[in-house]
Amino acid sequence: MSDVTARRVLVVGSANVDFTVAVPRLPGAGETVSGGTLLVNHGGKGANQAVAARRLGAEVRFIACVGDDSSGREIRAALATEGIDVDGLDVSGEAATGTALIVVDGQGRNQIVVAPGANWRLSLEHVRSRADDFAWAQVVVCQLETPLETVAWALREARRRGIVTVLNPAPIRDGLPDVWGLVDYLTPNEGEAERLTGVTVRDLRSAAAAGHALRQRGVRTVIVTLGAHGALACTAQGEVAAPAHPVSAVDTTAAGDAFNGALGVALSEGSTLEGALRFANAAAALACTRRGAQPSLPTRAEVNQLFTGGRP
Ligand code: RIB
Repeated sequence: MSDVTARRVLVVGSANVDFTVAVPRLPGAGETVSGGTLLVNHGGKGANQAVAARRLGAEVRFIACVGDDSSGREIRAALATEGIDVDGLDVSGEAATGTALIVVDGQGRNQIVVAPGANWRLSLEHVRSRADDFAWAQVVVCQLETPLETVAWALREARRRGIVTVLNPAPIRDGLPDVWGLVDYLTPNEGEAERLTGVTVRDLRSAAAAGHALRQRGVRTVIVTLGAHGALACTAQGEVAAPAHPVSAVDTTAAGDAFNGALGVALSEGSTLEGALRFANAAAALACTRRGAQPSLPTRAEVNQLFTGGRP
């Protein structure tokens, strides 16, 4: 991809502290699995996507809400150290910083539960007060870990200003407002595409069926991420498939966030859809090779190296 200067990505979303335990296998209901190792790091889909975009070369602003606690202060400092503009990071005096408990098995698969805390205190008033950020942005990236009204407003405001919108519909939530017509790029994984459409996604053909069903609701382009099978974009002109980079997965946490952050960067650079998919797939693959959420997110140099034949 060409090296260009103007890349301005605004992320509206969540920030968490992640407690990740790696064990040989995921527990069943009511089961205790011992012998794991603990990693505590920063996560949250919004913050992960912001960090991913920043490490890949974009200027990034982040609108979110943390608690008035040490975790919130540490998250703010860490994001600022990454070079992310955190002026839009609000502080709630009523809820603790969001927390995620993550279990990762020997194949890198995970189970995640989240106590959203301050993420669900992100207010419409606060997001509306960040008009300058929307005026600045080329691409706005949202997920579903903050109040749905904030997501809907951000997408509406971005569309009003002619900014490219990306919605990562994760995690799927009940009561989603009808925002589909405001979304330029919707990026569900297989399970999310299935939950949204009722189409069982198990291969490229079924992913295309789900993707086009979502397009029928008004989304411009639907990109179904398929893990080790790459990604499939469904557009008005047909489908564009991009294979995954084969890697040995250690921890797939935040692979989707790496994909979305990278997609935002590629779109801000005016990349072709195929180029954007390949770039995002490379970032996602690299994120699977390291433990944790934000510690696993790759730099631009690492992604470029993968493109030129290097192995992670
Ligand atoms: O996508 C991974 C993220 O989901 C984790 O960092 C966790 O915080 C949850 O938000």
